[in-house]
Amino acid sequence: MGNSAKQRSRIQRQVLFPFLLPLFCGTLSEQIRYSIPEEMARGSVVGNLAEDLGLQVQDLLSRNLRVSAEKQYFTVNTENELVLEKPLDREQQSSHLLVLTAMDGGNPVRTGTTEIRIKVTDANDNPPVFSQDEYKVNLRENVPPGTSVLMVTATDLDEGLNAEITYSFKTLRDDIGNMFMLDHQSGEIKSKDLIDFEISSSYTMSIEAKDGGGMAAECKIILDILDENDNAPDVVFTSVSSSVPEDAELGTVIALFKTYDKDSGENGKVTCLIKENVPFRIESSANNYYKLVTEGALDREQTPEYNITIIATDKGEPPLSSSTSVTLHIADVNDNPPVFHQDFYMVQVSENNPPGASIAHVSASDSDLGPNGHISYSIVASDLEPRALSSYASVNSQSGVVFAQRAFDHEQLRAFELTLQARDHGLPALSVNVSVRVLVGDRNDNAPRVLYPALGPDGSALFDTVPLAAQPGYLVTKVVAIDADSGHNAWLSYHVLQASEPGLFSLGFRTGEVRTARALGERDAARQRLLVAVRDGGQPPLSATATLYLVFADNLQEALPDLSNRLTPSDPQAELQFYLVVALALISVLFLLAVILAIALRLRRSSSPTTWGCFQSALCSKTEFGVSANYSEGTLPYSYNLYLASDSGKTKLNLLTKTPEMAPPQDLCKEASLIGEKSREILLTVHVKLGKHRQKLDNHLSDCEATEWRNSGTQQSDFKN
Ligand SMILES: *[C@@H]1O[C@H](CO)[C@@H](O)[C@H](O)[C@H]1NC(C)=O
Ligand SMILES: *[C@@H]1O[C@H](CO)[C@@H](O)[C@H](O)[C@H]1NC(C)=O
Repeated sequence: MGNSAKQRSRIQRQVLFPFLLPLFCGTLSEQIRYSIPEEMARGSVVGNLAEDLGLQVQDLLSRNLRVSAEKQYFTVNTENELVLEKPLDREQQSSHLLVLTAMDGGNPVRTGTTEIRIKVTDANDNPPVFSQDEYKVNLRENVPPGTSVLMVTATDLDEGLNAEITYSFKTLRDDIGNMFMLDHQSGEIKSKDLIDFEISSSYTMSIEAKDGGGMAAECKIILDILDENDNAPDVVFTSVSSSVPEDAELGTVIALFKTYDKDSGENGKVTCLIKENVPFRIESSANNYYKLVTEGALDREQTPEYNITIIATDKGEPPLSSSTSVTLHIADVNDNPPVFHQDFYMVQVSENNPPGASIAHVSASDSDLGPNGHISYSIVASDLEPRALSSYASVNSQSGVVFAQRAFDHEQLRAFELTLQARDHGLPALSVNVSVRVLVGDRNDNAPRVLYPALGPDGSALFDTVPLAAQPGYLVTKVVAIDADSGHNAWLSYHVLQASEPGLFSLGFRTGEVRTARALGERDAARQRLLVAVRDGGQPPLSATATLYLVFADNLQEALPDLSNRLTPSDPQAELQFYLVVALALISVLFLLAVILAIALRLRRSSSPTTWGCFQSALCSKTEFGVSANYSEGTLPYSYNLYLASDSGKTKLNLLTKTPEMAPPQDLCKEASLIGEKSREILLTVHVKLGKHRQKLDNHLSDCEATEWRNSGTQQSDFKN
C-alpha cells in the first residue's frame, strides 16, 4: 500500500508539478489516501506529506501545511510528516477525512487545500462477548436425540478473522460429551442421547467462544432436567407366608412388601390396592412399607388358594402402575364333620341269610383334607341287647359295609336298629351318627303246625263224635293249624287227602271247618277217617297232615267200644307213672297255693285296689287257658282257645274270639296269669295222667267212668298236652 501510495504520489507529483503553483493557487484536485492500523501509538508517522505531495523541501519551508478537521487525531510535524495525535479505534471510527491546507509566504497569501483520506485497519483488540454470562435452561427428559437444547451466541466487535468465533466445551464432565453435542460454528447445543432424569437431574457446563485472533470468552450453562413419569412403581415382597390356616383370626399378617418408584414428586407417589375380591386388605405402614392382612373368614373347602395381585399406581399424569402376585394356600383345619349320604338307612334282609353276608352299605363324606377328612365307621348303639350286638352285625370301619354276623330268623327278630357313627381322624375328631334299620324279611321256612286234632300225649288218637241224626252242614269239628311265618307264607288252606267215605264230609278250604255234607246213610260206616293236608301259601308251599277220626254215635258209650280197640295199648309203665304224677301234681298244687298266698299277702299290703282287682280277675280266669297267646302274630282269623274245667276233668273245645280280659294289661296280671298258666300246666298234666289212667280202666271196667265223658257233639276223648 505504501508503495502504491508512493507510486501514485509520484504520478501525482509528476502530474501535479507543472501546475504546482496554479494548483496551490486553487484547490488540490488529488486526494492522498493512507491506511493505518488502529491502536498505533501517539506520534506514529502516518505519511510524509511533502514527499507524497511531490514538493521540494525548500519550497515547503516557506509553505505552511496545516490540517483542518480531525485535529485531535492528526497533526503535521516540522518535517511535514502527518503524525498521530492519539491512537485511533477502528471500532469507533473506521475512516478519517482530513483537509490539508498549504499557504505560501507571498502577499497576498495564496493557499491551496487537498483532502487526505485515512482508513483505519482492524487490530484484534476485542474479545468475543456472550449474550449472557450464565444460561439457565430446563429440558424434559426423554426428548428425542437431536433436540435443540440451547443456542449460545457471542459477538466480537472486531472484523474479519478477528471477529470469527468458534465455540467449544470448556470443562467437560465425561458424560456430557456423550449426552450433548455442540455446533462449533453456531453455538447450538443439541441432545445426543436420551436424557434420563433418573440418571442426572441437572448438568452444568462451560462453553468457550474464541475469535480468529485467539481471544476467548466463557459462559456457564445450567441445564435442569424435568422429570417425566417414565417409571412404573415396583412392588417387592419382603416376607410372604406360603399358607395360612383357615381359622386364622382377622388381621393375621400374610405378607410384608415395599413399593419403589424412581420418579420424583407426584410421579413417585404410590398407592396400592388388591385386584381381586378377596378377604384380604392392605395396611400401610411408614415409608412405602405395607402389610397384607386377612380381612374376612377363610374356608379352605370353598377356596383352597388365593392368587393375590397387588397393583401399585403412581400419581403421575398419566399414572403408571404395575402388579405383583402372590399365591397363598389355605391350610386345612378339621372344621367339617362327616356327612352321611342318607339321613336314614333302611335295609331289608331275608331271613336265613348266610352269616357274614353284607346287608347294607353306609357312606359318609368329609370335605376336610387328609386325616381330617379320613372317615372310620363303627356301630355305637343298637336296640339289641348290648352283648348280643356283636353277634348280630358288624361294620367294616373303612368301607362302611355292614355285615350280618349270623343267620337272622324272622320268627325271632323282625327288625332291629343300629346306630352307626362316622368319625374323622382330625384332632379333635368330629363324628356323626346315622340310624340303620334292618328289616328281617320272612321266608317260608316254617311248615304249618296242626294244633287240632292232635295225638294224645301217649300218641293215642283223638276222635270227634257226630250225632247220628246230624243234618247236612252240621259243624263236626275244625282243623286248627298255625304257621309261624307271616304273610302268604302263613296263609293256610285245607285239603282232604283221603276220606273213608268221600262226599260224606266237606272241609272249609280256608276255615278248616269239617261239616257233614249229607246225612249218614244206612250203609255208611259209623267210624270215618279223614286225612287232611294243611298247606301254606309260600313258594314253594309247606304242608302238614292231620287225621280226623269221626264217630257217629249219640253218646260216648256207643262210641267207646269202637274206639277202645283202636286206641293205642297203654304203656306197661303207665301205672308207675300215674302214681309219680299224682305225687308231683300234689306238690305242684301246694307250691302254687303257696305262691298265690304270697302274692295275695303282698297285694294286700300294698292295698292297691286296681292291682288287686286285676289280680282277682287273673285268679278268676286262672282256670281258663288259651293256646292263642303264643301265636297271636300269625294270620289265623280267630283265636282258638281250649277251655278246661279243671274241677270236673271234662274238656271242651270252643271257638272264641279273643276277649280283652284274656290279655290283662298290667305286669302283675301277666305275672299272675303266668302263675295261672303254670298251675294250669300242672293240672293239665295231672289231668292227662288221670285221663290216661281212666282210659286204661275203661278197658277193664268199661262203665265205671263212662259218666265222665260228656257227649256234646264236639268232643274230645283225651287232653291235649
Ligand atoms: C393362581 O395362579 C396359578 C398360576 O398362575 C394358577 O395355576 C392357579 O390356577 C391360580 N389360582 C387361582 C385360584 O386362581
Ligand atoms: C352318636 O351316638 C352315640 C351313642 O348313642 C352318642 O354317645 C354320641 O353322642 C352320638 N353322637 C352324635 C354326634 O350324635
